[in-house]
Amino acid sequence: MYNGSPMNHFIEQYESTQKKKVERRVVLAPLSRLRSYNFTAQPHAILYYKQRTTKGGLLISEASGISETAQGLPNTPGIWKKEHVEAWRPIVDGVHENGGIFFCQLWHSGRVSNKMKMQKKEERSMESMALLTPYNMKNFHLSHRVVLAPLSRLRSYNFTAQPHAILYYKQRTTKGGLLISEASGISETAQGLPNTPGIWKKEHVEAWRPIVDGVHENGGIFFCQLWHSGRVSNKTCGAERSGYEIISPTFSNLMDYNESGDSDPHSLGVYMAESLSRLGIAYCHVIEPRMVTQFERAETCDTLVSMRKAFKGTFMVAGGYHDRDEANRVVKNGDADLVAFGRAFLANPNLPRRFMLNAPLNKYDRSTFYTDDPVVGYTDYPFLDY
Ligand SMILES: Cc1cc2nc3c(=O)[nH]c(=O)nc-3n(C[C@H](O)[C@H](O)[C@H](O)COP(=O)(O)O)c2cc1C
Repeated sequence: MYNGSPMNHFIEQYESTQKKKVERRVVLAPLSRLRSYNFTAQPHAILYYKQRTTKGGLLISEASGISETAQGLPNTPGIWKKEHVEAWRPIVDGVHENGGIFFCQLWHSGRVSNKMKMQKKEERSMESMALLTPYNMKNFHLSHRVVLAPLSRLRSYNFTAQPHAILYYKQRTTKGGLLISEASGISETAQGLPNTPGIWKKEHVEAWRPIVDGVHENGGIFFCQLWHSGRVSNKTCGAERSGYEIISPTFSNLMDYNESGDSDPHSLGVYMAESLSRLGIAYCHVIEPRMVTQFERAETCDTLVSMRKAFKGTFMVAGGYHDRDEANRVVKNGDADLVAFGRAFLANPNLPRRFMLNAPLNKYDRSTFYTDDPVVGYTDYPFLDY
């Protein structure tokens, strides 16, 4: 309680109930200045607070978020991480050097926080986005319809899956998300490219095991794409069978890749879809007709509707889906149950989350698609940092 001269009440000493002696009653009120990039107090605040410090004067910091979910404005400082505390230290030291007293205003902006807004937005987008709705495929419960398309990465030395693939597949795993492995040769004669993994020997299966375990640890669902590259194989001869739990094919009957074009791809596709439908396989994965090769996209009125109708199980499409809305539309229209993403998933380990937040996507670097570096262009694509 003030008991000095009314004229001098702003400049007289004050002793609070906690016995903190404040020389002046002029206090710097907490003022959010929105200059704390990345929720971290910045060096330019040292000068700012120092300038406002008087000997024995009290300064209350701008509102500082106590958790990731606390922030209500951009560029406000946080104080929930060690780095945040360290970032505040030179600012507080500056105030102390000038003899000031510094209090940190702790803050949670409650239901108006960015994160909560974001969560609400996520909930809304989850509801409105067909692509991110759950799906039951045979005995598998998928939490969303974004699938990792099979992508040969040519890093499986000696035709054997390598330990660096553990991280690569793990990074692309989400709880309840489906991943299709890169094409895996079913026999010595099946391989059509160097450094593709095999699955015809016990050692091959053992090499795959920690990769599959990694995916399972993260709650993902892993299917192995079995492959025989046919007449383009290194050593051509008949395919052998390899025992693998579930066989589900990838069709590229509409592509003309390695001169694989067919004179009547639609009838072929419908025939295959009908026949496989009767076998009760897990899914049918088809490349969109617009994909001339896995890289080139052409305009076409051709569709997969006839194959979709002919196949009674889970229908998965792939090819040229680089845009969340387009993929969402195909699911919403009922033209596919699942969408497999190739290059977008290659470059965006946490693709479903980016879709959920409508966050920008990393661009893929084509020059590192097929290099054998275990890190560059493989496991070093940045995650979202929020
Ligand atoms: C680097 C690279 C490797 C690929 N490897 C495979 C593969 O092993 N098996 C396969 O069926 N398709 C493979 N594809 C094709 C993709 O699964 C996918 O169908 C194609 O990239 C088109 O989809 P996108 O436009 O989403 O990239 C590969 C594509 C790329 C770019």
